[in-house]
Amino acid sequence: MNKLQTLIEEKVGWLIVLTVLVVSVAMFVEILPLMFQKSVTQPIEGVKPYTALQLAGRDIYVREGCYTCHSQMIRPFRAETERYGHYSVAGESVYDRPFQWGSKRTGPDLARVGGRYSDEWHRAHMTRPQDVVPESIMPPFPWLAANKVDAEAMPAHMAALRKLGVPYTDAEIAGAAAAVEGKTEMDAIIAYLQGLGLALKNKR
Ligand code: HEC
Repeated sequence: MNKLQTLIEEKVGWLIVLTVLVVSVAMFVEILPLMFQKSVTQPIEGVKPYTALQLAGRDIYVREGCYTCHSQMIRPFRAETERYGHYSVAGESVYDRPFQWGSKRTGPDLARVGGRYSDEWHRAHMTRPQDVVPESIMPPFPWLAANKVDAEAMPAHMAALRKLGVPYTDAEIAGAAAAVEGKTEMDAIIAYLQGLGLALKNKR
């Protein structure tokens, strides 16, 4: 047996260290560089931090598990770009914590749904999807119209996101509660949906 092999096979400490190094290769060459690449860490032109109302809507989207049926990730294939529009790019997701790319598509991808329908369409659809899409298997979410957004939670929520790098101003944080005061969860989730994917909306 050559010396190196003896060293690795007889000294368990070395075996562990070298095994960890080998299985970390993908992390070093693929994941670590991404953390410092501008195309991944900087927003593309037109992508702005969520407003307080949109942010509240995004939380409701997560709470209701919309991601279990909807992805927000258009892949660069013709079948997808013809249907949904420009494929998704990393710079669109820099303010998403956690991102909502998803992988399950029981319903259509929502990455560019912003502006596709009117607010009223969404209101009707969310209350009872079959009223606007008779063959729909999407469940109804009627309670969203009855629940008020938790306005008091918004300033702390935005301040926490600012710590993670979202450029909210002091004024935006101070005004966050007032901005969503009296709004329903339905208003919030519609504001969120209507803002999705606008930056690359009309590009192919
Ligand atoms: C059980 C799976 C399921 C869940 C959960 C679900 N949806 Fe859907 N959704 C669908 C299906 C199927 C369609 C396509 C039929 C239709 O338009 O209703 C759809 C369609 C949509 C559309 C129209 C998309 C388009 O491009 O036409 C929007 C917007 C939408 N869903 C939003 C939501 C939101 C917001 C939630 C969470 C509150 C949600 N969905 C939860 C299955 C689901």
